[in-house]
Amino acid sequence: MSQKPVVEVKNLKVHFPIHGGIISKKVGTVKAVDGVSFSIGRREIVGLVGESGCGKTTVGRAMINILHHVAPDVEISGEILYHFGDETIDFGKLTSHEVRKYRSRVQMIFQDPYASLNPRMTVKQIVEEPLKLHTKKTESERRNTVINLLEKVGLQAVHADRFPHEFSGGQRQRVGIARALATNPDLIICDEPVSALDVSIQAQVINLMMDIQKEFDVSFLFIAHDLSVVEHISDQIAVMYLGNLMEFGPAKQVYHHPKHPYSTALLSAVPIPDPDKKNRKRIVLEGDVPTPINKPSGCSFRTRCPVVEESCSESTPVLEEIDLKHWVSCPIVTEKQ
Ligand SMILES: Nc1ncnc2c1ncn2[C@@H]1O[C@H](COP(=O)(O)OP(=O)(O)O)[C@@H](O)[C@H]1O
Ligand SMILES: [Mg+2]
Repeated sequence: MSQKPVVEVKNLKVHFPIHGGIISKKVGTVKAVDGVSFSIGRREIVGLVGESGCGKTTVGRAMINILHHVAPDVEISGEILYHFGDETIDFGKLTSHEVRKYRSRVQMIFQDPYASLNPRMTVKQIVEEPLKLHTKKTESERRNTVINLLEKVGLQAVHADRFPHEFSGGQRQRVGIARALATNPDLIICDEPVSALDVSIQAQVINLMMDIQKEFDVSFLFIAHDLSVVEHISDQIAVMYLGNLMEFGPAKQVYHHPKHPYSTALLSAVPIPDPDKKNRKRIVLEGDVPTPINKPSGCSFRTRCPVVEESCSESTPVLEEIDLKHWVSCPIVTEKQ
């Protein structure tokens, strides 16, 4: 088994042009993702967190190369290197036709379990679809696989012939997980998979994902805006703000000893039951998130940063390794180490 990471994202930029006027001239650019680098190891769960609008979904979509479907004129640069066995493939460089060949290796689970399952298909048809596309299994083999997968995600064979509307949100997300697992992928990208579910159901779905990660040889990118969800499930946490990664490192370290002022502020808002930390001061960030159309020069967080210095407007910080596998994008913090 190769010890290379499943995927390495290098300096990924995703810019959406804005057109205006009668001749639809380019009048600006939404810098949704603006130089993001990180990697996901084998059987690893990486949590990607940040406030709404910071570019998390766009990173996920770029990683499965579906952005051109959503925005045909999108400008993408950087590398998305997947290591499948001995093969290294840059997903960003593939045409949508070529990417089909590898579609079975990387799957995505979406936020809204009500919108992401075709209401006219039975659960069997939904879970079977990737098997039809990517395998040569016979009808009866496919049925067996579907039933096996349903049982793995806590559903039963009797559910196979029912339609999505007969299920609760949590059960639908289980169907989505079964479908994602059908082709035995290397990586599953989950875009806020539990945000639309009741809190009591969220824990069940998260526990299921953790069981699956242990049982199947699969890695996860787990996108969430809620840090308490991510702490539980992740090996590594990446903290994103306005198109950039501010911090990336081992989950326990980032969660308990955040280094970047943005991570510290984001975490100070998470209620924690630990009595020793009850008195932790909540940091309230001043002002709103600037738009990705007019990003501040230099560090994008500087307009809200509690430790900002004059130099922060001059150059854009890059991630620096301050501890083993713990990266921070803030010269003020790294100089103090
Ligand atoms: N297809 C698109 N066209 C133009 N702008 C987009 C498109 N998709 C996302 N954006 C913009 O990119 C930024 C990041 O969005 P998104 O990746 O959805 O953030 P998140 O998932 O963190 O909430 C936002 O400002 C959003 O408005
Ligand atoms: Mg999103």
